Parts: sequence; structure tokens; C-alpha cells
Amino acid sequence: MMSSGWSLFVILGAVLNTAAAVWLLFWMRKRRGEAAQTSDTTGHVWDGDLREYNNPLPRWWLWMFILSVVFAIGYVFLYPALGNSKGVLGWSQVRQFEEMQQEQERRSQAMLARFSGRSSLELVQDPAALAVGRNLFANNCAACHGSDGGGASGFPSLTDASWQWGGTPEAIETSISQGRMGVMTPWAEFLGDKGVEDTVAYVMSLSGRRSAAGDAAAGKAHFDMVCVACHGADAKGNVDVGAPDLSDRIWLYGGSASAIRETIAKGRQGNMPAHGDRFGDTRVKLLAAYVMSMGASRAAKPGT
Ligand code: HEC
Ligand code: HEC
Repeated sequence: MMSSGWSLFVILGAVLNTAAAVWLLFWMRKRRGEAAQTSDTTGHVWDGDLREYNNPLPRWWLWMFILSVVFAIGYVFLYPALGNSKGVLGWSQVRQFEEMQQEQERRSQAMLARFSGRSSLELVQDPAALAVGRNLFANNCAACHGSDGGGASGFPSLTDASWQWGGTPEAIETSISQGRMGVMTPWAEFLGDKGVEDTVAYVMSLSGRRSAAGDAAAGKAHFDMVCVACHGADAKGNVDVGAPDLSDRIWLYGGSASAIRETIAKGRQGNMPAHGDRFGDTRVKLLAAYVMSMGASRAAKPGT
């Protein structure tokens, strides 16, 4: 916002400028009228014989000019065009934007109405619902989870059967609406270099692999002491704290010895932002349905 003194200055400038332009135009016309009686050129001569004729402005041009001045006065009066003035209509860019947004929201509410009150399991069976879900996913989730939901390092795949926070409809809806924050604490200080290396060997052995360095048996002792609390004695994970299954071959941060070493030594903190407040219940359910349709959620496909 401009200060009112500055605003007044701008208003005065604009008004005086317009008045001066109009005055100049009429003054020139009048003067030329007088001059035309004595000579029909301006008196300027170039290259010896090139003269500038002093013909009156065409009448249509003059009318255009006057009309545009009248238009400008009307415009300035109605719209916020001068300094701080808000204009008689009270139009504002922000207001117009908000109205457009409200209109947009009204339209999408009408579109969503036919899906509201239905569970995400019901929506999985409805191709129209999945089409809306796919759109929402492309616009709001694909940046992190990939356009096919396949994920990337640090961003879980939503297409496999492995669910960090649970693959039931309720768990998936909660992940979407409230977000998730996985906290894997760093263990470098507690375990020391050798302890980390041994634990890496044990974690690799859980998925049937062998590490070049480290003693898996010694690693198991560490695991049973500190890791079980979250990952469980069988290392199958715990959906309540978002601890992943370490016995499958699906990795959030990578399954190589160096990726696992990094995870154990420095810890990890994945953050899934909450979407519930912005989306509302129906959109969350549509998204959950789409997520289930993409992947191997046991809930959506009984028997797998
Ligand atoms: C800013 C990046 C980001 C965006 C945007 C995002 N997610 Fe996530 N999402 C994550 C991360 C990171 C995790 C894993 C959290 C963790 O490590 O505990 C996750 C976890 C999830 C999970 C739980 C997966 C599991 O295995 O339990 C679901 C379901 C999910 N996201 C769905 C969605 C949907 C649907 C959207 C769009 C509305 C979305 N996400 C948008 C980053 C994101
Ligand atoms: C406080 C609970 C907790 C403890 C204790 C814990 N973890 Fe974790 N761990 C997690 C969580 C939560 C994640 C997922 C982090 C994320 O979502 O960003 C995780 C992730 C991991 C991963 C990455 C898995 C992947 O798919 O990339 C490995 C490997 C791992 N933990 C091993 C261990 C080992 C070994 C120990 C014991 C030294 C341990 N964790 C102790 C909670 C824990």
C-alpha cells in the first residue's frame, strides 16, 4: 500500500498530465487554424526542398483521442487505477482470484458429491472414482512417490505388498490424511565402527545375503538388544512405529552394504506430509482407493 501523501501525488500527476494533453491538443488546433491563413507548411525545410505540411489532424483521430480520455476517466472512477483509490466498483485482483477459487471449489465439491460417504474399498471398484484418484495422485503425490507410484530412495513404493505403516484401507487413509514421520535413530556412537559393521552383516543375512565385512553372529546380538524394540524379533517390522520389514528384499533407502551402513550409523527420518486438512475426507478416500488399485494392498485384493 502506498502512503496517502504519495498516493495524492500520483493522482495529481496523472490528472494534470491528462488535462495537459487535452489542452495541448486543442491549443495546437486553434493555433494552426490561425497559421493556416498565412502558410500551409510548418516552415521546417530539409535537404533544401523537403517541407513539412501543417495539415489539421483528421477529425476521426481527434474523436478517438477524446473518447479514450472519456473512457480513461470512467475507468479510473470505477476501478482501482489511481493511487490508493479503490474505485467505485470495489474490484480487486485478490477478490477476483478468491472468487475464481471459490467457484473452482464449488465445482469440485459438486463433482466429489457422488463419491462422498463411500468407503475407499467401495471406491476401488468404481472406475470413475479411480480416474479422479489418479488425477489427484498425479497432481499431489507423484512428485515424491513417482507417477507410477513406484517410489524412489527415501520415498516408499506404493505398488508393492510391503507397507511401512500398514496396507489396510484405514492405515492408508491415515497415512494420507495425517502424514507419517518415521524416525530411525542413529546408532554409530552406541555400536561403534565394528558394531555397525557386524549389524550390517546381520541385516544383510536376513534377506539371504552375505556382507564382505562384519560378523553376522555378533551383529545378531546387537540386533536382539537394540533393534528388536522397533523392528521386532523376526525383523518383520512394526506398522505402529513405521519400522520397515528388514527380511524382505524391498528397501526404502537401499539394500546395499553401504546404504544399510549409512542407515544404521546415521539414522533416517522420512516425512510424509499430512493432506487431510487441505483435501477433506472424500478426496482422501479417493486417493486411498487409487493407491490400493495401484498396488498389492491385501485389503483391496483378498487372497494375495
Ligand atoms: C513431500 C513428499 C511426499 C508427498 C508429496 C507425498 N508423500 Fe507419501 N510419503 C512420503 C514419504 C517420505 C513417506 C515415508 C514416510 C516414512 O519414512 O515414514 C510416505 C509414505 C506414504 C504412505 C505410507 C506407505 C507405507 O508403506 O506405509 C502412503 C500410503 C503415502 N505416502 C501416500 C501418499 C499419497 C496418496 C500422497 C498424495 C496425496 C503422498 N503420499 C504425498 C513422501 C511424500
Ligand atoms: C526407535 C525405533 C527404531 C529402532 C530402535 C531401530 N529402528 Fe531401524 N528403522 C526405524 C524406522 C521408523 C525406520 C524407517 C525410517 C523412515 O521411515 O525414514 C527404520 C529403518 C531402518 C532401516 C532401513 C530399511 C529400508 O527399507 O531401507 C534399516 C536397515 C534399519 N532400520 C535397521 C535398524 C537396525 C539394524 C537397528 C538396530 C541397531 C534399528 N534399525 C533400530 C525404527 C527403528
